[in-house]
Amino acid sequence: MKRIGIMTSGGDAPGMNAAVRAVTRKAEHEGLEAYGINYGFAGLLAGDIFRIDSRTADDIINRGGTILYSARFPEFAQEPVQLKGVEQLKKFGIDAIVVIGGDGSYHGALRLNEHGFNAMGLPGTIDNDIPYTDFTIGFDSALNTAVHAMDNLRDTAASHERTFVVEVMGRNAGDIAMWAAVASAAEDVIIPEKDFDVAEVAAKLKSSRARGQKHAIIVLAEGVMTAAEFADKLKPYGDFQLRATTIGHVQRGGSPTAFDRVLASRMGSYAVELLMEGKGGLAIGIQNNKLVTHNMLDLFDAKHEPEMDVYKVAKELAF
Ligand code: F6P
Repeated sequence: MKRIGIMTSGGDAPGMNAAVRAVTRKAEHEGLEAYGINYGFAGLLAGDIFRIDSRTADDIINRGGTILYSARFPEFAQEPVQLKGVEQLKKFGIDAIVVIGGDGSYHGALRLNEHGFNAMGLPGTIDNDIPYTDFTIGFDSALNTAVHAMDNLRDTAASHERTFVVEVMGRNAGDIAMWAAVASAAEDVIIPEKDFDVAEVAAKLKSSRARGQKHAIIVLAEGVMTAAEFADKLKPYGDFQLRATTIGHVQRGGSPTAFDRVLASRMGSYAVELLMEGKGGLAIGIQNNKLVTHNMLDLFDAKHEPEMDVYKVAKELAF
């Protein structure tokens, strides 16, 4: 193996650049060459591929987004499209590939693996919704951004004695919501993995107001409903001075946290090591602070298991 291709695919996540840097520099350290593929699988098809070296990967560890750009490209599910991608890899003499993205991206990586190019998947998404890894690259950064926003909201909530329903990202996973709820001492948290009762939320708010706590933050995962919809449901139960806030794509950007930079660096280096051992078709994860691998195929049947202890703590410490 001489040349490794790297791409970022799906929604961007802080820390993707750190992973690109790690793959590039580790490859060079081992006497290999790295090739950046712009715009994920769409760029692969278009042959938007360039030699990426240590210099290009300088000063990017602290930058959010991805210098390789990203795209969602469902067309890659079609075999003729895959074969065109394979032609491009051959044209550039690329023998193996590292794909940084969510589980949609792993489908594409696996197809390349089936076509004879060893492929490694790194979990890059703010949602933390990939099975067999405790953390995905980008989750910690997005979480910190959400918590910072909630700290700001609490200031104004307290000044005006308001209740904020704050919607955070996560797609169908409640990870950002429940971790942010603990870290921002939210008064309640609503996630897709757990049923909720609006009457109960309202009763808690009332009893807390009666005890003198006149402002509140309710963290809502986007997979449940929108902040505005939830506020509408709560409105008939009392005068809570409701405001609905959606943090939105702010969570996707910004300088990655040290945790995400280190995670991405460890995973990127490990991916190159595994490729050098001739391995492919693997998804890299971290479990109990140890790097692990699972067959990408197994990921498609598995379900992400959120750490429900965090939810329990969020609930128990609220009010
Ligand atoms: O998967 C990352 C994510 O930010 C989700 O949290 C969110 O639901 C979705 O992507 C938003 O997608 P888009 O950037 O295409 O609007």
